[in-house]
Amino acid sequence: MKFAILLLSFFWLGGFASAQTLQVTGQIMGEISPCGCSPGKEKGGIARLSTYLKANQGGLWVDLGNYSSPPTEQGELKNQLWAKAFTDNSLFALLPGPLEFSQGKRGLAKRPLPYLLTNLLSPVANVDRVKTQVDWQFFGFLSPELLSSGRHKTDLLGGVEFFLKEVGKNRSAARHRALLFRGSDQELKEIVQTGLFELVLPANQAVLEEDQKEILVLGTRQYPLPPIKGQGVLEISLDNQKTVRTLWLDKAFEADKAWVPEFKAYDQAVEKLFESFLKSQQKAPDKRVYKGSAYCVTCHQEEGAIHQGTAHAQAFGSLEKVGRDRDPDCIACHSAGFLKGGFVSKETTPGLENVGCESCHGQFRPHVEKPPSYVNPRQKVTEKTCKNCHQGSHSPDFKFETYYPKIVHTKQR
Ligand code: HEC
Ligand code: HEC
Ligand code: HEC
Ligand code: HEC
Repeated sequence: MKFAILLLSFFWLGGFASAQTLQVTGQIMGEISPCGCSPGKEKGGIARLSTYLKANQGGLWVDLGNYSSPPTEQGELKNQLWAKAFTDNSLFALLPGPLEFSQGKRGLAKRPLPYLLTNLLSPVANVDRVKTQVDWQFFGFLSPELLSSGRHKTDLLGGVEFFLKEVGKNRSAARHRALLFRGSDQELKEIVQTGLFELVLPANQAVLEEDQKEILVLGTRQYPLPPIKGQGVLEISLDNQKTVRTLWLDKAFEADKAWVPEFKAYDQAVEKLFESFLKSQQKAPDKRVYKGSAYCVTCHQEEGAIHQGTAHAQAFGSLEKVGRDRDPDCIACHSAGFLKGGFVSKETTPGLENVGCESCHGQFRPHVEKPPSYVNPRQKVTEKTCKNCHQGSHSPDFKFETYYPKIVHTKQR
């Protein structure tokens, strides 16, 4: 086994670059580590990816974009961690997505990452139109249609036509051509029809794990898609075989310990941000509209007793146990009405920690004050309500049919 690995690395070092493996990620969307909501089933995260990349150093890593978080203070901390992961592991090319483009060209100029974008109207210092690796040329297409703001759309003029002109200008006959792509199916078809590219890598555009496909089928062609949220790597060999496989970064990959200090520093910074958020809340006018479960239970004792026996009533304690009760990324689903006139902290809004009655039934409205209308304000609780929280890797086993019986508290039980 060891011998085989040595032999392989020898081949690579010996310049058999056409046997190189592309390692493709994309649509990471700020996920720096798995949430911990489903221990044993968690995948991805920077530290696991790092273990994988260190063990497979002969590869060529490309990312299809949308790696970043929105540029809030906490978001920027996450973006810094990813930027470090990209740099430490020699990311070869990054096709910026709409998330990176949210501040236009200026946003791209902020971080020195190996951006690749061929259909950029005017040059930006750290953005290449083409990248070359031995006998391969890489190009990048981001559809202007995906940029919401007209202001930034103008940075990417002309769509497919402009793009193809730029490829023509940069093309060298001796090389194979690969394309990193994010756009519509129609745009993909038009570009593929030109026959210019030997390898086309469309970005996965799914936001939720349950909506993602591993293969995009377009007419008679099929394109493999890398897993979202950094949960896996798509491997493609650049030899004649063009073998493709999706490698899920599950528990077989241990987290790289080299990242422990980085994550510790991140947690501390997040706590600090949360403390200053709490301070700002003390001065802010009281906008609390959630009453808390204790209030509901004064009239709905039976429902209250059942609710108390469910995991929902312990949800905040689960965060405390793992020391993440001061991370807004976690609090939202483990409390009632966070940042929506509900939970702020255990001290300022006691009784709103944990998933409460109003997490499902909606914030209290005086449904008992005007007897004929008391049923009106009530929102019907359906499977969709559960999925606000029971989604993707936060609850991979969720099925309404099996979960609902564990929390049911209607009289017709
Ligand atoms: C002052 C007493 C009182 C309080 C406090 C109260 N309710 Fe009610 N609630 C009622 C009564 C009375 C009904 C109608 C009779 C019934 O269906 O049990 C009702 C009905 C409901 C219903 C079912 C409506 C239906 O169509 O059957 C829900 C859901 C509900 N309440 C949720 C809540 C929640 C959540 C809270 C706390 C935010 C709350 N209630 C607080 C008295 C109260
Ligand atoms: C506001 C977010 C939220 C909503 C809405 C929500 N849940 Fe949950 N649910 C949680 C959290 C958080 C936990 C984990 C609690 C813990 O153990 O810390 C959980 C745990 C559970 C569990 C226990 C799982 C287990 O096996 O231990 C069940 C069952 C469950 N939810 C069912 C439901 C159903 C059914 C709905 C919709 C009617 C729903 N939940 C809506 C957040 C939510
Ligand atoms: C989108 C909503 C959501 C977010 C955000 C969220 N959780 Fe959860 N969490 C859940 C749900 C739902 C469950 C219950 C999962 C189940 O049993 O199916 C859960 C369960 C848990 C559990 C209990 C696991 C066990 O032992 O059974 C822990 C611990 C936890 N989450 C930690 C976190 C942390 C830490 C974060 C932030 C990094 C976080 N959660 C963010 C929804 C969420
Ligand atoms: C995890 C989501 C969830 C939580 C938390 C929750 N409920 Fe419900 N509740 C439901 C669902 C689902 C139903 C049945 C469907 C419907 O009536 O909307 C229901 C029904 C009810 C009803 C109508 C009962 C009947 O016999 O028809 C009342 C009253 C009620 N809940 C009160 C409460 C109170 C009080 C709490 C807090 C102690 C609470 N619920 C917490 C999901 C939830």
